[in-house]
Formats: sequence, structure tokens, C-alpha cells
Amino acid sequence: MPDETPWWKGAVFYQIYPRSFADASGDGIGDLGGIRAHLDHLATLGVDAIWLSPFYRSPMADFGYDISDHCDVDPLFGTLADFDRLLADAHQRGIRVIVDFVPNHTSDQHSWFAESRSSRDNPKRDWYTWRDAKPGGHPPNNWRASFTGETHWVRDDTGQLRPRFGVKAGGDVHASAWTLDDATGQLYLHEFLPEQPDVDWRNPAVAAAMFDVLRFWLDRGVDGFRVDAVSSVGKPIGLPDANEKLAMIPGGGLTDDAFVFDVIRALREVLDGYDDKMMVGEVHGLDAPEIMRHVGTDKFHLAFNFPPMFDRWRADRWRRHIDETEAGTQRHDLWPAWVLSNHDTPRHADRYGTQSRARAAAVLLLTLRGTAFLYMGDELGLIDAFVPAGRRVDPGGRDGERAPLPWTDGDRHGWDGPADPWLPFPRNAATHNVERLSRDPRSILHLYRALLAARRGADSLRTGAFEWLAAPHTVLAYRRLSAATGDERAVIVNFDSAPAHVDLDGDWVVEVSSTMTGNGEAWTGEVASDRAVLLRPAGVRG
Ligand code: NOJ
Repeated sequence: MPDETPWWKGAVFYQIYPRSFADASGDGIGDLGGIRAHLDHLATLGVDAIWLSPFYRSPMADFGYDISDHCDVDPLFGTLADFDRLLADAHQRGIRVIVDFVPNHTSDQHSWFAESRSSRDNPKRDWYTWRDAKPGGHPPNNWRASFTGETHWVRDDTGQLRPRFGVKAGGDVHASAWTLDDATGQLYLHEFLPEQPDVDWRNPAVAAAMFDVLRFWLDRGVDGFRVDAVSSVGKPIGLPDANEKLAMIPGGGLTDDAFVFDVIRALREVLDGYDDKMMVGEVHGLDAPEIMRHVGTDKFHLAFNFPPMFDRWRADRWRRHIDETEAGTQRHDLWPAWVLSNHDTPRHADRYGTQSRARAAAVLLLTLRGTAFLYMGDELGLIDAFVPAGRRVDPGGRDGERAPLPWTDGDRHGWDGPADPWLPFPRNAATHNVERLSRDPRSILHLYRALLAARRGADSLRTGAFEWLAAPHTVLAYRRLSAATGDERAVIVNFDSAPAHVDLDGDWVVEVSSTMTGNGEAWTGEVASDRAVLLRPAGVRG
């Protein structure tokens, strides 16, 4: 029987932030040629797909999330021909490629906005949202813009970083989401920087132009999209004030969900005109059930399950997130997408505070029921760079996690110039670079490779059911089972530093600590970190 499972289900995606992956041109900024030159790293790691953060033409106010031409490559990154070559080489290695789609806003340098701002009666005026100021020159409503304040990450007493949103140092709130444009004396709306005006999706001409962008990349052969900040497209009609607490959140925290779903359905229709494409949505929600409302046969294929990313490394928290995710997906036959790090959040090896936790987190991420998204450098156990005040460039304070990937030993780590890399290297680049970790069979890089290989070899891990096993409260233990083949794996993740004992099947006690022990009669260890093991029934070869 042919395998009907869609390729993205159970796949492992690898997010590439192009500025920081690898530099082929020597200008200190990563580029498409650099990615192409390092595809073997990804093939050896064993990923199924890559997600490329924006490489489109952009003035880089938000490092590519401010797009001035959706259908061209920024010269910093190369050319469309370079993109085609990268796509072909990735496909040739069996690696799919998805690209970023940014529906909510463009750059203020986009020709659409240039036209829109040129006069009140320009045909593209209502492609964006323009309003008169309120009496006294006040903005039309009380919404605030992202990246005009700060998110603080504060280390708690267990050594873990926790986010504190919204309030700027000194107690100020973010700036208004409205900017006055002198040319016409009106204000335009932007949920992010003033250089990122929001388009108006209620205007059918905007929607049609955006669908053309999707088709442009689909026709070039991409396998799908990561859809940026999708909830932002659902501005409530009338743009009402938010209550003061919500107004602290950029965008006012006000979303017309029904409209967001309509937009997602329309995007899906475009994708469904092609074979085998997928979309993963960047959806922020309080919990998995809320996020999963954006997923379905006529919506996104996947949506990032973000709540655990903002939570601590603690067994009880993860148990709750997993329960919520299982409940929110199983009922409607949906599929989860797990992620621990990305270009917007301090790296999880840093957030969780130790390499041992990072290794256990790898076992968890790659054995839960769902599709897994790695952020480049997760496989190296990277922590963020220290970026001194004089070198900080991101208005959102995210430079640390965007540091260049260290490929080799030595000072330049494979970024051989002549120009210096655009940001300092991660703080542990001297010990956690690809060259060094490749040589050490016990390294986190080899752990990732082993986990990915195990996952490839076991349909229980890729697409099987999830079932809890009894375990002490500091431990998560579960079984993955394939109904189709009977394949079965057990996973034990110890969140504590003290050794834990788990009674598997009532006849074998697994000790998860710095050395894994057991009599090996019923289950054998497939992959082990000092705090987590992946096991398979003895006699079964993956
Ligand atoms: C989410 C992206 O991940 C982030 O990097 C970007 O700044 C905002 N959306 C705005 O596009």
C-alpha cells in the first residue's frame, strides 16, 4: 500500500536565518551561496526540510521582515539564479525548502507603499490603513507598535531565562502603532516598526497581489511557506481602542479571528492548486488548543506550538503543555509542531541554562508526537552571543540569537572574510562549532544526528501515537507506537539532576543519569543523553 502520509507530517525542519548561516561572498553577511555550500551539513544531520527566513529585497530595518520586493532576492544574499540553484541542490539531496511569507506588512520602501503615500487619491491609497489624527493630534487609536519597547529576559533562581513582555526599561510602554506622514497629513498603521506599514487585507486587490507572491515562489518550486505574524492581518473593523492593559501589547491584542481564518483559508486555496505543498503558521496563542484553531484541512497544515518555548524546563510544565497539545490535536485529527528556539527568542540552551538540559531537550523535541522545527545551531548546543552596546543592530533586541554559526575551530569559525561577520559569535563558539563537535562522538551534534536517524528509522517516532508511562514527578516517560507496523519506542526524560528510576513494563528499571544502566532484556538504549534515553524493544532494529 502506498504511504499516504504527507511529507511534512513527522518531518524535521531546520530553520536557516540567512544572514547568519554561512557567508560565501566574504562580506560578513551570510548568503544563499553559503547555504548551498553547506547543504551537506544538513544532509548528514538528516533533516527533511529547511525553512529560509526572508532573503527578499529589503532595506533591512527588520532584517528582511520589511520587504521592498517580494519577488526578488536582496543583493546581499545573491540573485534569483542563486535561489534556483540552492533549491535544485537541496531537492537533489531530498531536502525540501519552504520560504517565509510575510502577509501583514511591507517595507515603507515597497513600490506599493510609495504609491499609497504619494497622495490621498492614489489608487493604492487603501492598500494600507490611513486615518486622520484625532483632535489634539492624537493617534486614531491606542494600539502600540512592536520593537519600539523591549522584552526583557530575566534569569530566575534555577538559572533559566524567563521573558517579561511589553514594558520598556524605566517603565515606558511601546510607541504608538501610528505614524504621521507629512506628505498627506495622515497617519498610517504599523503593528511593527514605522518602516513596516501594514497592508489592508480587507481590500481584495491586496489579497490578490499577495496570492500572486505565493504563486511566484510556488511556480519556482518551493515546497511551502512559513507564514509570518498571521493574526495581525485580522484587524477588527473600526479599529477600536483596546483596553489599556491590552494596548500595551503591540497591535492592541485585538484580533478578528473570523477574518484571520478567512485569510488563512484563502492562502490554503492557493497552495492546494499545487501538489504536496504546506504552510506553517506563526500564531501566538495562550495554549495549544487556541493555536490549533488555525490548523485544519482548509487552514494551516501546521502552527508552531509556542507556549512551551516561553516556559521553563520543568517536567510539570511540559507535562501540561504536552497534555494540552495532545488534547488540542487528537480530537480534530490535527498535527502538532514543536519548536524550542528561533531567531526571535534567546536560544533554549541559554534559556535552560545548561548543556545537559539542552541535550535532554533535544531528545524531547525529536520524540514527541509532531513535526519538529530546529533552529540552526540547536544541533551545536549554541548559546546566544554577547553583543556589546556598540554592535547592537536589531530594534527588537534579538541580536544574541542571530549570531553567525561557527563552522570551524579558530577565531574566524569559517567566516573568512575579508569583512568581519556582522555580529559576534555565540559565547560558546570556541567549543561548540561544527568542526570540533563532528570529531567528538559524544557531542550534542552526534546526539542530534543519532536522534534524527532513529526518527527516520522508526515510524512510531515519526507518526505513531503517544502514550504516557508512569514516572516520578520530575520525569516524563512515554511510549510512541505505530498501529501500522507495531513499531514501538519508549522515551524517558529526567528534568532533575539526580538520577531517576522508571519502571518500564513492570519488569525493567531504567536508571536515567550520567550512565544509563539496565539489564537490557526487554528494552535496549538507542540514544542516550545524561538525562534522557530513547529505547527500543530488544531485538527490534530501527
Ligand atoms: C515575526 C518574525 O519572526 C520576526 O522576526 C519579525 O520581526 C516579525 N514577525 C515582523 O515581521
